[in-house]
Amino acid sequence: MDFVLSAAIAFAMSAAFWPVAKALDIRNGSRFGELFQMGWAADHMEFDGELLKLKLDGFSGAGFTSKNRYIYGKATAEMKLIGGDSAGTVTAFYMSSEGEKRNEFDFEFLGNTTGNPYLVQTNVYVEGMGNREQRIDLWYDPTADFHSYSILWNQRQVVFLVDETPIRVFENKEEKGIAFPGSQAMGVYSSLWNADDWATQGGRVKTNWSHAPFVVTYRGLRIDGCQVTVESAVEDDVKRCTGSESGKEGKYWWKSPEMEELNVHQSHQLLWVRAKHLVYDYCFDAVRFPPRRQSVVADSRWRSKKCFGS
Ligand SMILES: *[C@@H]1O[C@H](CO)[C@@H](O)[C@H](O)[C@H]1NC(C)=O
Ligand SMILES: *[C@@H]1O[C@H](CO)[C@@H](O)[C@H](O)[C@H]1NC(C)=O
Ligand SMILES: *[C@@H]1O[C@H](CO)[C@@H](O)[C@H](O)[C@H]1NC(C)=O
Repeated sequence: MDFVLSAAIAFAMSAAFWPVAKALDIRNGSRFGELFQMGWAADHMEFDGELLKLKLDGFSGAGFTSKNRYIYGKATAEMKLIGGDSAGTVTAFYMSSEGEKRNEFDFEFLGNTTGNPYLVQTNVYVEGMGNREQRIDLWYDPTADFHSYSILWNQRQVVFLVDETPIRVFENKEEKGIAFPGSQAMGVYSSLWNADDWATQGGRVKTNWSHAPFVVTYRGLRIDGCQVTVESAVEDDVKRCTGSESGKEGKYWWKSPEMEELNVHQSHQLLWVRAKHLVYDYCFDAVRFPPRRQSVVADSRWRSKKCFGS
């Protein structure tokens, strides 16, 4: 490894390391500014002590974006969602590349009327193709305290985690002809906006602006990832970030062998989430995706094979 490369990695590691466990110092926006920048509506974003807040009112929502792009890694936001009436609002935390053929991994938190549960919608876009929504409800009140939401992405899987519990896995099934998000560099984003045409109870409940401003609070943000130097990754970056060696050195731990699939404990957790908290899965939506096979059994087999755990 030459000097320039190791220096670049050392910088990426130190800049990207923002311990989640400790009280975070995002006062004055200094630590925030190492990793992120405002996306839009700076006046709807506020640093409050050690917390960061995004606000939505009748004028605007707000959003921020990572300064850099990454190929593989893990991004985490520790957030407390809008309390009370959040109907009509969507808070998103996601990774995305750019362009028509973009890849995207979405967490979308769909608000609700006071006392009714938030839904967490996830989606995966591969080369511009989305339509892979899943929805779960949560086993806790996400507006009462901070919880962590993470996206892990490596060569074998994309995993959505809630407090480190996997709620969804999109496995690499390229050998079966299913496209997997590969070497496009991705940014990390979060935003809050009004989506009352669809978000809450199918769009029937609209945002009640007399409850504005709606506020989402962040306590920690963290990106461990293989940083690329330019937006459209050059070949060397792709090699460095995706090469099989880097995971073994422990530098790029997110692509080490034990990160390539869920362990036994995590698999059980995922089964539990799906059994107890899954509200919607595109795979089993026979209206949007009508049966293609001759028999019900063949169709359900086809769906399970295509969809389960993805
Ligand atoms: C950052 O904020 C803290 C707490 O409000 C304050 O003590 C400190 O002086 C500020 N630092 C700078 C560089 O503004
Ligand atoms: C809101 O609450 C209603 C009633 O409990 C529920 O049917 C719905 O799934 C909840 N979430 C959203 C985003 O509509
Ligand atoms: C909006 O909230 C206000 C204040 O809580 C309430 O009086 C009003 O009925 C709500 N509007 C709707 C359409 O629910």
